[in-house]
Amino acid sequence: MGRLHGSLSETLTPFSLLFFFFFFSWFAGFTFAAFNLTTLSFDEGYSPLFGDGNLVRSPDGHSVRLLLDVYTGSGFISSSMYQHGFFSAKIKLPSDYTAGIVVAFYTSNGDVFEKNHDELDFEFLGNIEGKPWRFQTNLYGNGSTNRGREERYSLWFDPSKEFHRYSILWTAKNIIFYIDEVPIREVVRNDKMGGDYPSKPMSLYATIWDASSWATSGGKYKVNYKYAPFTSEFKELVLEGCPTDPIQEFPSASACSDRDAWLESRDYAVITPEQRAAMRRFRQRYMYYSYCYDALRYPVTPPECVIDPAEKERFQDSGRLKFGGSHRKQARITRARRKRRSRVASISNDQTDM
Ligand SMILES: *[C@@H]1O[C@H](CO)[C@@H](O)[C@H](O)[C@H]1NC(C)=O
Repeated sequence: MGRLHGSLSETLTPFSLLFFFFFFSWFAGFTFAAFNLTTLSFDEGYSPLFGDGNLVRSPDGHSVRLLLDVYTGSGFISSSMYQHGFFSAKIKLPSDYTAGIVVAFYTSNGDVFEKNHDELDFEFLGNIEGKPWRFQTNLYGNGSTNRGREERYSLWFDPSKEFHRYSILWTAKNIIFYIDEVPIREVVRNDKMGGDYPSKPMSLYATIWDASSWATSGGKYKVNYKYAPFTSEFKELVLEGCPTDPIQEFPSASACSDRDAWLESRDYAVITPEQRAAMRRFRQRYMYYSYCYDALRYPVTPPECVIDPAEKERFQDSGRLKFGGSHRKQARITRARRKRRSRVASISNDQTDM
C-alpha cells in the first residue's frame, strides 16, 4: 500500500504541478499591482456635458452615474484640456438587455478643432440578453476620420457585474490602452503616421447614448426602453497630465515638458515584460478584429502596425478571425465597411456581428 501510494503520488505530482502552474500563471498574468494614482472628486475635474438630469453624483461626490432613458442619454467632460495625460476611471456597465447602447470613455478635441480633431476611444457596445459586452479601441489624429484604426475585443470578465479600471495613456511617444493593469493595446508613435498621431490638447469624455437608430440590423438591436433606465457607473476618477488652454498656448510643447517627463516616469508609462506577455495573451485570446490585419481596407499596412506572426495567423484578409462569421455576415460587414465614414457607422458594423 505504502509503495503504491508513493508511486502514485510520484506520477501525479508532476502533472498536477504542471496543471496548476499553467492554470495560475494564466490568471496571475492578468493581475498586477494597482497603479499608484490620485483620484479626484467629480467636481474637482469634470463637468456635466449633456442630459444633466441623468447624471447622478453620489452623496460624497466621488462617483457618478450616467443614465440612459427614453428621453436622453448623458455625459460628462473634463473641465480642462490636457496636452498628454493618463485618463482613467473604474467603470461598471449596464447589465441585462443592453442592445443598441454605447458607453464611450474617450479623449477628444472635436469641440475645438472641428475639421482636424484628435481622438482616443474606448467604446463599449451593448448586446442582447445573454450575450456579453464587446468593445473597441480607436484613434484619430488631425481629422483622420476616413482612416479608422479600430480593434475589437471581448473581455475576460463581465463588465456589468463589477468595476474595472479603464485607462488611456497618451504621451508624445506612445499610446497605451489599459484594462485594470493589463495593457491591451500600445501604439508607438511613428514619424510616418504624420498628423494621424494625436497631437493637440484633448478633453476626457464619458457618455452613454442610444445608437440604435444607426444600427444596421433592421431594428433587431434597437434599445429596448422596457429595461430603462440603463445605468453606467464611474468612480475613482483620474486625470494626470498637463492641463493647457488649446487656443492660447498651442503649440505648447515647452510649457508641458516638466509634466511630460513626470508622466513618462509613472508606473503606467512602463510596460514590464510580464505585462507585455499578458498583453500578447489578451490579444491572442480576446481580439476579434484588427485594422492592422485588414488588407482589404488597407492594402498597405498602416505604418504603426507591428505584425505579430502568431496573432496574424488567426486573421483573414478582412482583419476578422478565421473561425467564426458566416459568408452572409461577411458580405454584410463588407457592405457596411463601404458605407463607413464615421465611428457611428463602425459601431453599426460591429452590431451586425452580434
Ligand atoms: C493637419 O491637417 C491640416 C488640414 O486640415 C493640414 O494643413 C496640416 O498640415 C495637418 N498637420 C499635420 C501634422 O499633418
